[in-house]
Amino acid sequence: MSRTVLRGRVFSFLRAPQDLDDRDSYVYLEDGAVAIEGGRIVSVGDFASADLADATIIDHRPHLIVPGFIDLHLHYVQSQMMASYAGSLLEWLNSYTFVEEQKFSQQGHAEAVAADFFDNLIRHGTTTAVAYCSSHPRSVDAFFAEAERRNMLMVGGKVMMDRNAPAHLLDTAQSGYDDTKALIARWHGRGRAHYAISPRFAITSTPEQLEMSRALVAEHPECYVQTHLGENDAEIAFSMELYPNAPDYTGIYEDYGLLGPKTLLGHCIHLNHRETAVLAETGAVAVFCPTSNLFLGSGLFDRERLAKAGVRLGLATDIGAGTSFSMLRTMDEGFKVQQLRGQRFDPLASFHMATLGNAEALGLAGRIGSIAPGRDADLVVLDARATPVMRMRMATAETLIEELFLLQTVGDDRAIAEVYVSGARAKSTLGGL
Ligand code: GUN
Ligand code: ZN
Repeated sequence: MSRTVLRGRVFSFLRAPQDLDDRDSYVYLEDGAVAIEGGRIVSVGDFASADLADATIIDHRPHLIVPGFIDLHLHYVQSQMMASYAGSLLEWLNSYTFVEEQKFSQQGHAEAVAADFFDNLIRHGTTTAVAYCSSHPRSVDAFFAEAERRNMLMVGGKVMMDRNAPAHLLDTAQSGYDDTKALIARWHGRGRAHYAISPRFAITSTPEQLEMSRALVAEHPECYVQTHLGENDAEIAFSMELYPNAPDYTGIYEDYGLLGPKTLLGHCIHLNHRETAVLAETGAVAVFCPTSNLFLGSGLFDRERLAKAGVRLGLATDIGAGTSFSMLRTMDEGFKVQQLRGQRFDPLASFHMATLGNAEALGLAGRIGSIAPGRDADLVVLDARATPVMRMRMATAETLIEELFLLQTVGDDRAIAEVYVSGARAKSTLGGL
């Protein structure tokens, strides 16, 4: 089996950092060697002591080798409708999203969008994403087939939605169940594919559909569950009208047995004390989507309150309400949201969240999210001097922390020098932009 050794500055977390001085929370090697064989990392250490016998050496100095970024919530079927002008969530959904997603019933459309979508993930350094597909099973087939072609670890699922959207987008409680069962059988556990049972949100699912979702979750504890929660005031009010017996929005999903450690809840901005406690108790993950929350004016995620209550957290772009595929841009906007809340979100915390933190949220920290022997070789090479402005600022940067903060504050896809997926070069083989 051929062996590749990447040489460069290596940075990877061991656990969540407590603060900026928490040097023990990560590994940093000034001149490191990451050895890869058969798509896996086999050793990590100083280059000077690396076993280089029969190895192909790729020298990435002076760049920083970090784990591939993980995006915990996005809609691949909304790739072509980013930057659609609207005032708030429900207007945006009705004016553009539900129109766009209908295109996925057409032969060939999903395949074309999926190819572009994965190219863009790679360009931005994202090696794993958790995606909503459209309500059409073929959109899920296209998603996982493209991921498989690229050997990428992906999580995805067909959105189930049986009301409050155009007829061409709707399934029924029964067809949503049947299609989801067939897709799980076809894809879950095949190569690097993981299925997410995906009732879109309470507004677009009847009680019958949430009942069917409960059955799916009970029958498939191996799968993830994803939905939206507490994003917007009008969304919450409408949800409570539709489910008048629930104590609150979270209570709707709770009543249908949808909350657990494999549940990923997009947004979680507007949650009361009880809801926060329920998330902490069930181990469900609250996914922070800063560029989307700012774009739709949804509100400011209260990271500190949720973390203090013991809620597990994740970070995501939420394409297409999100405004960038880049997890660097996402960290930057996340930092600004926390600033407006009077809270700190330091660069160690944000880099942790985009790598090991999100891997832990998926329960996949043994496979992805860090650079250590036995992990899948999904890696990103970061160039903190990628643009003239970055070069100018790097001339005065003296510490790793300054470099990380610069990367997240002004970095984007230009700062992604190379991406490795399962040990193979992925960005430089994409061709031109
Ligand atoms: N809530 C239900 N569907 C969606 C969606 O597609 N995007 C966002 N941001 N929120 C949602
Ligand atoms: Zn979403």
